[in-house]
Amino acid sequence: MMTSYDELPYIDRPFRQTHPDRLASMGLLLGMTPADPATARVLDVGCGAALNIIAMAATLPKARFLGFDLAKSAVEQAQARISQLGLSNVRVEHVDLMEFPGEAGEFDYIIAHGFYSWVPQSVREALLALMNRHAGPNAICYLSFNARPGATLREVWRGAAAYHAGGIEDTVEKARASVRMLEMMAEASAANPGAWQEIVTDMADRVRDNGVRWVAHDDFGSVFEPFHFHEVAEAAARHGMQYLSDACYFDSQPYELGDAARGILQSLADRDILLREQYFDFLELRPFRQILLCRSCIALRRPIDCAGLQHMSFSSPSDETGVAAGGRAIFSNPLTGVRSEVREGSRTILRQLRAAWPCSVPFDQIIPDERERDAGARTLERLWACALIEAHAVPQRCGRGADDRPVVWQLARIEAATDETVTTRIHSQCALDAGTRELVRLLDGSRSRDQLVAAFPDLQRRMDWLARMGLLEPTDQQTGD
Ligand SMILES: C[S@@+](CC[C@H](N)C(=O)[O-])C[C@H]1O[C@@H](n2cnc3c(N)ncnc32)[C@H](O)[C@@H]1O
Repeated sequence: MMTSYDELPYIDRPFRQTHPDRLASMGLLLGMTPADPATARVLDVGCGAALNIIAMAATLPKARFLGFDLAKSAVEQAQARISQLGLSNVRVEHVDLMEFPGEAGEFDYIIAHGFYSWVPQSVREALLALMNRHAGPNAICYLSFNARPGATLREVWRGAAAYHAGGIEDTVEKARASVRMLEMMAEASAANPGAWQEIVTDMADRVRDNGVRWVAHDDFGSVFEPFHFHEVAEAAARHGMQYLSDACYFDSQPYELGDAARGILQSLADRDILLREQYFDFLELRPFRQILLCRSCIALRRPIDCAGLQHMSFSSPSDETGVAAGGRAIFSNPLTGVRSEVREGSRTILRQLRAAWPCSVPFDQIIPDERERDAGARTLERLWACALIEAHAVPQRCGRGADDRPVVWQLARIEAATDETVTTRIHSQCALDAGTRELVRLLDGSRSRDQLVAAFPDLQRRMDWLARMGLLEPTDQQTGD
């Protein structure tokens, strides 16, 4: 069967927020004992061309990955990439979720990104049933969906665009006309600054970043169904699963709300976390949710206990970018766009992490003094919550650019042959300029720095950049695999 995703291929990307490392970190914070991501069994439902799990498999050679999708062309693309990389720990199959084999076994992490709101109700139910059937006892499942009330605002655009593009049959042309409608709305709202202008501009920015293929599927596919948080939590509960947390710790913090709203959320959290989450969405007009689920029988630790952080490592590219009025240092994280002032103790930690970036630093090395462990864990938790640092259940390891024969990891070298955008070892993507793209293709370990510098006089600058982006393969001593 030819699907709309065969006719117009979807964008293929890695998603940091779905990485088992991220899922395990959230589980540890809430008192779970999740499987070690380094050796875990991972399932990606509706994985498309599967760059997400292929990139994970390439950095976690002892973990096993299975992805499946209804679009045959996407699956074939994934299979071609897997054989090009020579990976034996990842498989992608052409399967309809409705026929996913019951004997496929247990998984420690199940990912369904960009799926729930875009499939019919019967498939949504089958997805939750699959999670219940195939999740191991300590498994963590990732589920994203368009959330009410925020996504309702997207429906305003959908309504206008449906009228504007009425009569256009071609999927791409229809999406283009819809984008023009949104641009008109953004232009008109500029004359009338306020909340609506912010919303329309934000939608237009995201459309610009993601392109017409994204619009055609995400906004104008045959199914577009936003849900209230409580509806999804209740549906999950009917299938034996409970809400664990947001996939991004930062998203669960009400930083953008005022004191009154924060007070309401705190009192709701004391009664029932599900109420707190639903009202958070109402108060913040949240348009999209990325939630984690685990088995209902697991007793979670709420409020969180920072002790779990003592088993993790931490990383941060955050840089000191200024001084606040009271004299405190301001740090900015280029990955998350967050800017925040910090206390002196946090400043020392951030400098240490910045120096080690993109590698993560174990808790014991950050807080070596036994007596400081509890306070240190609380400081790290706060830095994680405000997205200045990231916590890792499995160490994040990359090359630092010191080798005589440097190696860019294989996935990025292959991508650079055909594309300006490549995937990093830290599960993100970055664009290469023409010179760096050429260099990336040469960095397979066969050339020494002396040979390379002849063609690239600014080699050190480019190597520093590649190291910072997380594109270099770690040396044997660093991998610890
Ligand atoms: C919006 S895309 C998301 C792809 C990928 N997970 C991502 O986030 O980039 C939805 C995917 O779900 C797949 N899909 C839809 N219905 C399916 C079904 N019944 N069984 C398996 N895959 C399905 C589509 O083919 C498509 O690749």
